[in-house]
Amino acid sequence: MTRILAPLACLVATGYATAPVLERANGPSAQTCSQLSSAFGSAFHWPQNDNFTIWDAKQQEVHPACRVEPSSANDVAKILDTLVSHCERRGSLPKPGRFQFSRGGVTVDLNRLSGVEILQGDTRARVGGGATTVKVYEALESQNLSFVGGRVGSVGMGGFTLGGGTSPFSNKYGWSLDNVYEYEVVLSNGTITTASETHNPDLYFALRGGGNNFGIVTAFTVRTFSQGPVFTSTTTYSANQSNQVLDKVYDLYTDKSLSSDKEMGYDLYYSYSSESDRFTLSGTQRYGKPVPNPPVFAALDRIPTLSRNTNIGRMSEAVDGTDSMGTTRHLFATLSVAPSRSLLSEGLRIFQEEVEAIKHVPGLVPSFISYPLQRNAIKAMKQRGGNALGIDRDEPLFLILISTAWSERTNDADVNRMTVNTIERLNATANNLGVASRYKYINYASAAQASTVFSGYGDENLQRLRRIQKAVDPRGIFTSKGLWRGFVKLL
Ligand SMILES: *[C@@H]1O[C@H](CO)[C@@H](O)[C@H](O)[C@H]1NC(C)=O
Ligand SMILES: *[C@@H]1O[C@H](CO)[C@@H](O)[C@H](O)[C@H]1NC(C)=O
Ligand SMILES: *[C@@H]1O[C@H](CO)[C@@H](O)[C@H](O)[C@H]1NC(C)=O
Ligand SMILES: *[C@@H]1O[C@H](CO)[C@@H](O)[C@H](O)[C@H]1NC(C)=O
Ligand SMILES: *[C@@H]1O[C@H](CO)[C@@H](O)[C@H](O)[C@H]1NC(C)=O
Repeated sequence: MTRILAPLACLVATGYATAPVLERANGPSAQTCSQLSSAFGSAFHWPQNDNFTIWDAKQQEVHPACRVEPSSANDVAKILDTLVSHCERRGSLPKPGRFQFSRGGVTVDLNRLSGVEILQGDTRARVGGGATTVKVYEALESQNLSFVGGRVGSVGMGGFTLGGGTSPFSNKYGWSLDNVYEYEVVLSNGTITTASETHNPDLYFALRGGGNNFGIVTAFTVRTFSQGPVFTSTTTYSANQSNQVLDKVYDLYTDKSLSSDKEMGYDLYYSYSSESDRFTLSGTQRYGKPVPNPPVFAALDRIPTLSRNTNIGRMSEAVDGTDSMGTTRHLFATLSVAPSRSLLSEGLRIFQEEVEAIKHVPGLVPSFISYPLQRNAIKAMKQRGGNALGIDRDEPLFLILISTAWSERTNDADVNRMTVNTIERLNATANNLGVASRYKYINYASAAQASTVFSGYGDENLQRLRRIQKAVDPRGIFTSKGLWRGFVKLL
């Protein structure tokens, strides 16, 4: 959840939540790193004098052989050429039944590719592939503009947008991936190209949900729109109000007379705090206009609260930007379901039971988070040839995220077990209620769920994505047998 990284190696990639701890480079990567060091000077870093930090402590433990910070698409192409030719010389490019394992990868850190340039009468902006959400909001706000960005300021543009990108503005404009007009991409052979509805339309389709399987995206041309201050309110409720809150939240998510208010967004949270030894239900109301108490939330606002914090301000202030880096362990897992009021109550009950069993884990902060993919956002997925997610329905889809933070490596197995159990039980309940969905949001999927993410896009989209992958990357550099193996792979 930080700036976008593209870890590459001579046959090892780091970069996934459960990646093994890799040792320092020896052999092949060290040679490649030396070559990059000569070419990139102060934009190159050996690990022993690198203070680089990454959001998740598990990933912080994965030591790359070196890190390089390209400043342009040309630099990215040069790095890729260096890595690929090095591996080719060693005869270790993927061939069936023949590839080796080496330690320590090369981290390609796109953080210098973070410019934001406003184009064409304020209707679009070119955003660097390594820009963080809060930086994009800030750059656009100087002109009273905004874009379809996320809720967490430190998240990088690349991974967020390539996977989907749910936003407080999604009820109005759709997900981030449906608001990209053009991608600038470096392909595995070092070619710099663009993909839009009219140029490379297949690649354009694939990049709208296909993740890191096609190339390294160095710039996104995105929709911008006039935007003033937004309303945000976070409210907590006592346990005896849960049913009432869930009733009203369910209405907000499903009742057309409420969800047709496109300024509206609402996220539901059920979290455990070890400090207070308590589970708390809370919600964040979002409204795209500076209205103090938007009428769309009137029914919810009649329910007594334990606390309520309200703010009217710019998006850059409303996003949560205070993540600590590299010290806390995190695990996400996800499920999507058709609207169901019973599933919400059952979901909280199941989550609570599973968390109760691991309450001893130090630093434990687990949350059950849910919000809908609204009808308008689903409709927006059909624009410009459609995206790869395979979501086509007349009713909303509820996304559920089980997100857990904790402190110690010795508890990884406890948290994994809690998460797997919760998802399995939620899924069984969804199946019983007839509301299960094949779709899993890639940016919330756990490593254990990675192998079923793309099949959740539907068989036709899966096959199409694989064909496009083979066409743009015939040597499989960006596949699970290539040089960039982390995250969710098509092949
Ligand atoms: C890391 O080192 C760079 C270059 O020496 C410096 O500019 C930066 O502030 C340091 N960051 C942290 C988090 O210490
Ligand atoms: C942005 O909006 C504010 C408030 O309406 C206005 O005072 C300011 O001049 C605007 N800035 C630009 C660059 O248009
Ligand atoms: C609900 O719980 C709160 C404290 O958590 C308490 O003050 C309130 O009286 C309770 N309401 C009912 C109707 O039981
Ligand atoms: C949910 O259950 C269905 C049917 O048993 C199964 O095919 C699917 O893989 C399960 N999904 C998850 C996320 O466990
Ligand atoms: C690079 O790959 C693309 C996609 O396969 C191809 O169209 C292009 O011709 C290749 N460029 C070179 C220089 O080989």
